[in-house]
Amino acid sequence: MSPSDVKSFADTPPLRGGAQDVFYAQNNIVPLPVITHTKGIYMWDENGNEYIDASSGPVVSNIGHGNERVADAMAEQARQMDFAYSRVARHQPNIALTDRIATLSGPGYERVALSSGGSEAMEIAIKFVRQYFVATGQPERRHLLTCQPSYHGSTIATLGMSGDEALGDFFDGFGMTSHKVPAPLTYRLPKSHTPESYAKFSLEALEAKIQELGPNTVLAFAMEPVGGLATGCTVPLPAYFEGIREICSRHRIFLIFDEVLCGTGRTGKFLNAHYYPDALPDIVVMAKGLGSGYAPLGATLFPARLVDHLSTLTGFNFSHTYNASPITCATGLAVLDEYERLSLIDNAAAMGDYLRERVWALADEFPIIGDVRGKGLLLGIELVADPVSKEPMAAQFLPTEKIRIHGLNNGLMIYSRRTAGGKYGDWFLLSPPLTITRTECDELMRRLMNTMTGFTKEWEEYE
Ligand SMILES: Cc1ncc(COP(=O)(O)O)c(C=O)c1O
Repeated sequence: MSPSDVKSFADTPPLRGGAQDVFYAQNNIVPLPVITHTKGIYMWDENGNEYIDASSGPVVSNIGHGNERVADAMAEQARQMDFAYSRVARHQPNIALTDRIATLSGPGYERVALSSGGSEAMEIAIKFVRQYFVATGQPERRHLLTCQPSYHGSTIATLGMSGDEALGDFFDGFGMTSHKVPAPLTYRLPKSHTPESYAKFSLEALEAKIQELGPNTVLAFAMEPVGGLATGCTVPLPAYFEGIREICSRHRIFLIFDEVLCGTGRTGKFLNAHYYPDALPDIVVMAKGLGSGYAPLGATLFPARLVDHLSTLTGFNFSHTYNASPITCATGLAVLDEYERLSLIDNAAAMGDYLRERVWALADEFPIIGDVRGKGLLLGIELVADPVSKEPMAAQFLPTEKIRIHGLNNGLMIYSRRTAGGKYGDWFLLSPPLTITRTECDELMRRLMNTMTGFTKEWEEYE
């Protein structure tokens, strides 16, 4: 059965992942395809249907699929030295990878702690700042500030930091949560606000929250410099970055950029932070593209002065078994070699400009495209009922699920997810592998045009 044969959940065959389905999204109207092989920007399912990986999974497969050089590096490392534990030994792949990341990240990020993904890397950032303040005699600093909406991961602590009102019941009387301040949204704003005035409003709200809590009780402010699923790739204005840097410095609060999704070259620079040289964060958190789907890898970047200072006091006392597994480190090095060999960061900037222009042109034809935002090859496309009023589509229509299905029917694997119960709008991500060529962009756009045609027709019938 192909996705197009299935019209409603009642027609679907039994759950395809068996008991595993309970651990992942279960509310899919059509079953998820079972992928059997992948190459470059393409994926194929068990029935031979071909898809372009239009969102790189959840924005992870930056170097594309089926890269032989990376596969060889992984196999070679597994044969030579599969594992050495970081609490009892040191190894060269760890040293080499952290040196490489520090070099690519530049001044201010000389020390790099490795981990198994974005949530762990984010946890390392917050455990570090807490330990730093405790070790330097400021144990009263215990509050974290983050944006509403936002996403920082799926461990208990990072869920608690994420700005998602839908998690209200889950956290009621349970777990650690951060204090939320308004995200610097740029599209659907309260009446009478422009993006500029809303950025100013968000900065004032941050300052007010710090004053309310007491500046000496705050650890850090963490934010996504380009949003992911939670804001549909919102890019805050430069004045916002200057403002948060000034506020955090004045109160001696750490500024943390969560670049799990937007880092590692996706927006056209190795770190998105490099776009704001006068407002660099103290700590940067990375993951996703660093392992590019070949191995689970995260990294937390710190300035040498902080890490070296802490090492003279208590050191950093937390680790995980797989923090810096040799195979993962060898994978990360091979991935970064491919970034260099294929000039992927420059390609992300060039193809990002090209795709953005093509998608905006599509908006002339499909007025349900309300906004196209993002940077480089990280684009969010917002779907609306009315582009003038920016009124979202009816929740019962399930727009994010419907666009996924029309994508599948037209050979596009699209990542879309209703976040915060759809409160802030509905969007999907266009973030193909950074290897994408202009011809492949054209093919992606042809499939997206067909996807939008099918989706619009269904929306018009529903209305
Ligand atoms: C901005 C951001 N932070 C953190 C995470 C968590 O990363 P992981 O899923 O690797 O734990 C994600 C994942 O989507 C993310 O987009």
